[in-house]
Amino acid sequence: MKVTVVGTGYVGLVLGPCLASFGNQVVCVDIDKEKIEKLKKGKVPIYEPGLTELIVEEAKKGTLSFSTSLKDELAESEIVFIAVGTPSNPDGTANLKYVYQVAEDIGKNLKGYKIIATKSTVPVGTGQEIKKIIKKHYKGEFDVVSCPEFLREGSAVQDFFEPNRIVIGAESKKAKDKIKKLFDPIDADIITTNIASSEMIKYASNAFLATKISFINEIANICEKVGADVDMVAHGMGRDDRIGRHFLHAGIGYGGSCFPKDVNALYQIAGTRGYEFNLLKAVITVNNNQRRVLFEKIKDEFKEIKGLKFGALGLAFKANTDDIRESASLEIIKLLKEAGAKVAAYDPIAEETAASALNGHEVEYTNDAYEAVKDADAVIIATEWPEFKDLDWNKIKSMLKKPYIFDGRNLLDKEKMINMGYKYFGIGK
Ligand code: UDX
Repeated sequence: MKVTVVGTGYVGLVLGPCLASFGNQVVCVDIDKEKIEKLKKGKVPIYEPGLTELIVEEAKKGTLSFSTSLKDELAESEIVFIAVGTPSNPDGTANLKYVYQVAEDIGKNLKGYKIIATKSTVPVGTGQEIKKIIKKHYKGEFDVVSCPEFLREGSAVQDFFEPNRIVIGAESKKAKDKIKKLFDPIDADIITTNIASSEMIKYASNAFLATKISFINEIANICEKVGADVDMVAHGMGRDDRIGRHFLHAGIGYGGSCFPKDVNALYQIAGTRGYEFNLLKAVITVNNNQRRVLFEKIKDEFKEIKGLKFGALGLAFKANTDDIRESASLEIIKLLKEAGAKVAAYDPIAEETAASALNGHEVEYTNDAYEAVKDADAVIIATEWPEFKDLDWNKIKSMLKKPYIFDGRNLLDKEKMINMGYKYFGIGK
């Protein structure tokens, strides 16, 4: 099939090459000329395991190409995916100007039947709005489909080929069947529904996962007060199939480009329809508080932070990505810097992105974890990079000024660390 993907952010840049690998003829379009030029040369602006290789391979095969002109590509394509960004407005609602701009461009240039599918996370009703915009300019037949994205950063390519489910929201059988056919090579349950339900499935899924995280973080905070261990509690709860073990990992709160934005947007959408989504409001409040928990523990322990040095391990919002959007790590570093501390930080891949986001805060970025903790008063673990577990913690202890660990991800074994002579602070234990 001939497919155009509009938008070369995380969503579009994974979708395009993956669809190309099934033998489809895919063009990825973006208005950012510089980005497209780089992509043509195989330079991929994001870190995602396996993605660069896939892009280079498909481009070489001729199944994947890049363009800055939607108008030129539209005539040839059967399906157009909208995968542009939906950033947050100041009030928390999703900003849909890029989505609607693409709809305008499609409407103005449409010449025959096409399927317009949304991959961007859009509020309920957006599909209908896209339809209206296109109809303003084009009187012929076309279909709008909602096809939400559930990829996780850091494992997006793998998630594409092995999803839990594929959701298709459409009004016509013709469109449903065609999108089903496109995803046919993937062995997964396909859920077909109407456009509004499909749009809601995406928001409800992210909101539910965020709720699980805030729930376990609240349990963690209570565990500390009653002498329980949240990891054991999560393990015990998770063995109940109705609850499940996933997303019950207590820590310093959720971050990233999706959860904070989507949870907020769903809360706002409910509000605009006159519904106060109390549960979600609490989820957001809990998360905002949780992002400060480690800093509060440091303050309680040291009383005076000014002049102390902290070695921060991890800058990305989670492991296996260089994405620092809404990263709890950066928030902690900012709080420490504002309190007058010195910070040396190490992240396997997110140092460059973090340095530009932390611009204005003097932070030393090191080549490895050991350099970051040298002469520090405490180590902070802020991202759950598995490799931090395997560091030589005896060596680290000998390098520290004081043997303190503030483990914001419960990555290390508390007892083992205490036996090594550390003063260990985790979350909920
Ligand atoms: C998420 C959804 O998982 C994905 O389906 C959707 O398409 C986009 O949003 P992503 O943002 O890549 O994906 O990250 P995810 O792995 O879900 O983690 C989100 C945040 O929650 C991270 O900050 C992570 O550290 C945190 N988290 C996750 C926890 O604190 N505890 C957990 O148990 C799980």
